[in-house]
Amino acid sequence: MQATTLSRRVGLSVPIIQGPFGSGISAVELVVAVSESGGLGSFGVHHLGRDGIRDVAAAIRAKTSRPFALNLWIPFEDSENPSLTDTEFQQAIDTLRPYYDQLGVTSPTRPIRFTPPFAEQIEAVLDARPSVFSFVFGIPEASVLERCRELGILTLGTVTTVDEAVAMNNAGVDAVVASGFEAGGHRISFLQPAEDSLVGTMALIPQVVDAVQIPVIAAGGIADGRGIAAALCLGAQAVQIGTAFLACDESGANTVHREQLHSHNARYTVLTRAFTGRLARGIRNRFVDEMRPNELHVPNYPVQAWLTAQYKQAAIAQQRADLLSLWSGQSAALIRHRKARELMAALVEETDAILAR
Ligand SMILES: Cc1cc2nc3c(=O)[nH]c(=O)nc-3n(C[C@H](O)[C@H](O)[C@H](O)COP(=O)(O)O)c2cc1C
Repeated sequence: MQATTLSRRVGLSVPIIQGPFGSGISAVELVVAVSESGGLGSFGVHHLGRDGIRDVAAAIRAKTSRPFALNLWIPFEDSENPSLTDTEFQQAIDTLRPYYDQLGVTSPTRPIRFTPPFAEQIEAVLDARPSVFSFVFGIPEASVLERCRELGILTLGTVTTVDEAVAMNNAGVDAVVASGFEAGGHRISFLQPAEDSLVGTMALIPQVVDAVQIPVIAAGGIADGRGIAAALCLGAQAVQIGTAFLACDESGANTVHREQLHSHNARYTVLTRAFTGRLARGIRNRFVDEMRPNELHVPNYPVQAWLTAQYKQAAIAQQRADLLSLWSGQSAALIRHRKARELMAALVEETDAILAR
């Protein structure tokens, strides 16, 4: 695959980014496998505090000297300090009680905080000085972008619409990931509601390319060389692939989740707010179906995400694919590989073969 301005700038031999996964689903082994294969491995650290972020960066550096990205979620709505009352918290627990009971988990009590403070996270990321700082759900303050420039950290903002891409461009972000509706995980829209920002990758990429001066990275629905070649033809300078890497053995996905990605069920993904309070794409299961009537009334992120996380370990131990979040993009049925290095080699070979035609 030919180098692009962006891949040269970051020091990649191939313009392929392994998308970051939040909530403990990223893994050092996956980042290392992708970065050592010439792409950019990414680690989602939004669930970690200062020490956790420092340890992740050190663990990656102990295994590779290649570039990698750290990824954060910008505070959005009331996520830093949820405004829900104790009564509302109790109501949310009551809605989930049948699931806690089925799994033999005691209902949780309200924690002091639901997420680590963002101010602490951003300092830790800057201290770790990754080659790339990628982020979702908004744009960091100008002072943060300025410090990234001083430290030589490339900033990568994620968008779901042309308006969001223009906002990133105007704020001085170095490059944008344009994420189509097909993508697995959260819809990370920040200007309009996620439900009103559901543009597909094929339509989104060329419009974003036309609207901004900074490099564009295509994400959403890409899982093989055909998708990469198409994205490059649409004007993208790189691709960001999530679901196909998530299905690899090196990812932090639990075994129930990984096997579902390789199963027939992965053909059926839906957008749901039921697991986290924010719209996200995953494989349809019983929890999603049963929560449909309550979906618009669950607490905002991070409260609902924290509440469902309280039963996650029990559900994994009991192999409950019907109750776990099974994040997946629409490309899951294209997945053929279980080893990240083999996936990287196949992606490069397939893309080269198509572009040589
Ligand atoms: C389980 C899961 C968790 C994700 N978490 C994050 C995250 O924390 N930050 C982020 O920028 N993108 C996150 N994403 C999006 C991916 O990094 C990537 O952009 C997306 O999966 C690309 O679309 P695809 O799944 O169709 O390949 C996540 C995706 C999945 C499937």
